[in-house]
Amino acid sequence: MTDARLAGLAARLPNLRLLTDPADLEHYGRDWTRRWTPAPLAIALPGELAEVQGIVRWANEHGVALVPSGGRTGLSGGAVAATGELVLSLERMNRVLGFDAVDRTLTVQAGMTLHAVHEAAKEHALIYPVDFAARGSCSIGGNIATNAGGIRVIRYGNTREWIAGLTVVAGNGELLRLNRGLIKNSSGYDLRQLMIGSEGTLGVVVEATLRLTDPPPPSQVMLLALPGMDALMEVFALFRSRLTLQAFEFFTDAALRHVLAHGAQRAIDGEHPYYVVTEFDADEASQDAVLAAFEQGVERGWINDGVIAQSEAQAAALWRLREGITESLAPHKPYKNDISLRISALPLFLQEIQALLGREYPHFDVVWFGHIGDGNLHINVLRPENLSEGDFIKQCEQVTKLLADTLQRHGGSISAEHGIGLVKRAYLGSTRSEAEIALMRGVKQAFDPKGLLNPGKLFV
Ligand code: MLT
Ligand code: ZN
Repeated sequence: MTDARLAGLAARLPNLRLLTDPADLEHYGRDWTRRWTPAPLAIALPGELAEVQGIVRWANEHGVALVPSGGRTGLSGGAVAATGELVLSLERMNRVLGFDAVDRTLTVQAGMTLHAVHEAAKEHALIYPVDFAARGSCSIGGNIATNAGGIRVIRYGNTREWIAGLTVVAGNGELLRLNRGLIKNSSGYDLRQLMIGSEGTLGVVVEATLRLTDPPPPSQVMLLALPGMDALMEVFALFRSRLTLQAFEFFTDAALRHVLAHGAQRAIDGEHPYYVVTEFDADEASQDAVLAAFEQGVERGWINDGVIAQSEAQAAALWRLREGITESLAPHKPYKNDISLRISALPLFLQEIQALLGREYPHFDVVWFGHIGDGNLHINVLRPENLSEGDFIKQCEQVTKLLADTLQRHGGSISAEHGIGLVKRAYLGSTRSEAEIALMRGVKQAFDPKGLLNPGKLFV
């Protein structure tokens, strides 16, 4: 790549912001994985749809690889540009384009943060219900590219359920307006859904029409301390049978220690192996129901202790114990696994994998947490001080191979909500059959014939 080509792009799109400063290359060339050294060619920050299309066409003419980029909060290396790609950041395209009260849809540009989407929905007394801790930094386009899940999936489902329409620039530069906000559309392949979760390998999401819904009723937040992993599933079944859950999240004592060291406040005395943060609809009936569920859990030996938030501030403090985990682990550069199983398959899988890790990798500090009510666990492995970074990654890859094999036997997936990116591409075959992967490659070829969109991500 010569500067002449970049100069050609600048001449063709005179208002396009292009950055080549080393600090910008470093900033925009990485995501939260922090494992690759950023080395993009340049950063393009389009301000309008026509510029996105112009960049993709230019890339096709010159054979330049592109990395579509949102808030770069991803944990699988999906937004990493480490081999001379042009980063196509949507961050300047962050406006609301329209609200339709009859359709209850909000149309936004892809670079809006999830938090800004929440705020925009609130202005119309509605909510966009997908939510997770990175809300302030992640972008809606990135959420769509990974079919992001988070802490409310148990109630509202993944991002996929809330996308009524997408405007996308495909890898060949074609502009596609997919589904256009329709509720029903039985007219062949749903290319919108194909785009969701495709990790920027098929097209660049430029605009999205989001479904909104009524806010949930007032809720209560409760923290529970549990004696063991088996109790977790029992308590989940118990609470789900008696309450209308909005969230049901778990973490281990090891996770709690990291969050406390990071400034959070302990909410339950003593040490307990497992904790649950749950949020549920609060009404008169739920007061008796939660007490009854709690007492039953204690009687059966599934619950050690519990606390219900008495104010919004207390509720936020309880949530911080769960939502602060990722940030508190970040300085340790954990090796992340994000696995998915049918809920019914969890207990056996957990027994097996915990025994396996304890036997084969007793020197690893393994931090478990996640969305247990969705069958989604985050298994973070921290590097022991006496192990070099290189050896650590090698051993973590062996751990992931063990996980992938075990997941395959239990019918699970190596990625629940973080995506495959660079981190998990070697394990795609544990989750998808050869026939499926061949079809996926065919789809990629159809949308992006020159293979310029996020090359190296998703597939080896
Ligand atoms: C979470 O649930 O907190 C996120 O998926 C982030 C993580 O796994 O670290
Ligand atoms: Zn998560």
